[in-house]
Amino acid sequence: MANSDRFREFLRKLIIERKNNMKQEGGNQKSGDFLSLMLNDELFADKDEYLIDECLTFMLAATMTTTQLINNGIYYLTKHEDKLSNFRKDIGGHLKQKFSELTGEAWKKIILEDELLNMCSYLGYVVNEVLRIDPSLRFSTIHEISGDC
Ligand code: HEM
Repeated sequence: MANSDRFREFLRKLIIERKNNMKQEGGNQKSGDFLSLMLNDELFADKDEYLIDECLTFMLAATMTTTQLINNGIYYLTKHEDKLSNFRKDIGGHLKQKFSELTGEAWKKIILEDELLNMCSYLGYVVNEVLRIDPSLRFSTIHEISGDC
């Protein structure tokens, strides 16, 4: 709860900041991040707390699932040395420097810009298999479409 309160407080400040920027820019916020998109959506007009709820859902939906996937992935790889060795070979083959010498910035580039997942097929297999054995989320809400929109 403390983390949630802190996050909400952080978002409230960010919203005030963004709204002020929007006023100065005479309407639309130029940056296209998630918060700016929602602030420009009339669904959330004057409903800051609702918007903050959505941000929290988004944050939790993203972090709980991926954290669990990574934890499970590490667990299964350490249980199966042959798979861990394949995994290391696959990733190592795409790195231009030694694994232990990679800085945080270098990692960021490899993951975000070079898209490591697309380069390393074995990494993709591991991710899919871990999600198959232990899905991070085991349910899906059923929706019924009741009209045109
Ligand atoms: C391994 C990764 C992930 C898995 C297995 C996963 C799985 C799911 C599933 C099954 C649902 C549907 C839940 C339902 O039917 O009520 C869902 C909803 C959602 N996911 Fe993910 N997800 C993952 C990662 C992410 C990430 C990275 C984001 C955001 C960056 C995200 C954002 C959302 C949001 C916003 C919803 C809708 C929540 C709502 O009901 O309001 N998810 N996810």
